[in-house]
Amino acid sequence: MKTWDRLARKAELRERAGLDRRAGPRTDAFDLAGNDYLGLSGHPAVLAAAAAALEEHGLGASGSRLVRGTTGLHETFEADFARHVGAETATLYSSGYLANLGAVAALAGPVLLDAHAHASLHDAARLAGTASDTFAHNDLGDLERKLSELRPAIVVVESVYSVLGDAAPLAELHAIAAAHEALLVIDEAHAIGTVGPSGGGGAAAAGLAADPGVVITATLSKALGAAGGIVAGPAELRRHLVDTSRPFIYDTAPPPAVIAGAAAALGLAREADRDRAELARRAAR
Ligand SMILES: Cc1ncc(COP(=O)(O)O)c(C=O)c1O
Repeated sequence: MKTWDRLARKAELRERAGLDRRAGPRTDAFDLAGNDYLGLSGHPAVLAAAAAALEEHGLGASGSRLVRGTTGLHETFEADFARHVGAETATLYSSGYLANLGAVAALAGPVLLDAHAHASLHDAARLAGTASDTFAHNDLGDLERKLSELRPAIVVVESVYSVLGDAAPLAELHAIAAAHEALLVIDEAHAIGTVGPSGGGGAAAAGLAADPGVVITATLSKALGAAGGIVAGPAELRRHLVDTSRPFIYDTAPPPAVIAGAAAALGLAREADRDRAELARRAAR
């Protein structure tokens, strides 16, 4: 078939250019690439919580959040996570990727992204269907310039960047966004559990989590060792997401057992100051 011939030719070209990718099984090699930052994915308390929920609720959620998919575990986790980061509400999605699509697309309006923002945030800007642009990584001057051209905009950053592991100057970014009446969306995927007071993330550390101009997105798949995504912010944001966010409405809810495990991990992460200090020491090294 012509389609497969064309794709095979493209794959050959990618391979020749060294751009092919492999998704092989992991080995027992020393892990310098995984995201289980606090080692919680196999913690006995996490596994016990997940096992109990598995027994009670079965493997899958059996429906979308608005149909049969919401359990008390989902609701309790949302309240607990909101408290953890210092935001008014939080809304679960089945992955961090979908949480980003949901948050950015639902907010609408021109989107201005840090050039190092995760692929899901760039895809979210595309899905939003409005003008979008990037500013140079962590470059406040470039952000100012672009904001004056594109406003009003949503400014999208990460608190700890996934590739280089560097931090964003959140207080300065927030001041600039606020001066232009732009919302600041902060992806805390790599910061929840690893930075901030009790691992509450970068926005909590900068005192921004309860600011009405700030929206936090995160994943449960890194320091919490589980899977799922979440968007935290004011009550008006949650209402808007529940009523209109397509990746929330038309997606099967995250499995209850995974959320139960993540809830146990969140409790452990809160108390993990020593592990956080060790993680910071190793990251610096
Ligand atoms: C910054 C950032 N945002 C979002 C995601 C997506 O999260 P998930 O894997 O839960 O879909 C990732 C990585 O996976 C990430 O590094």
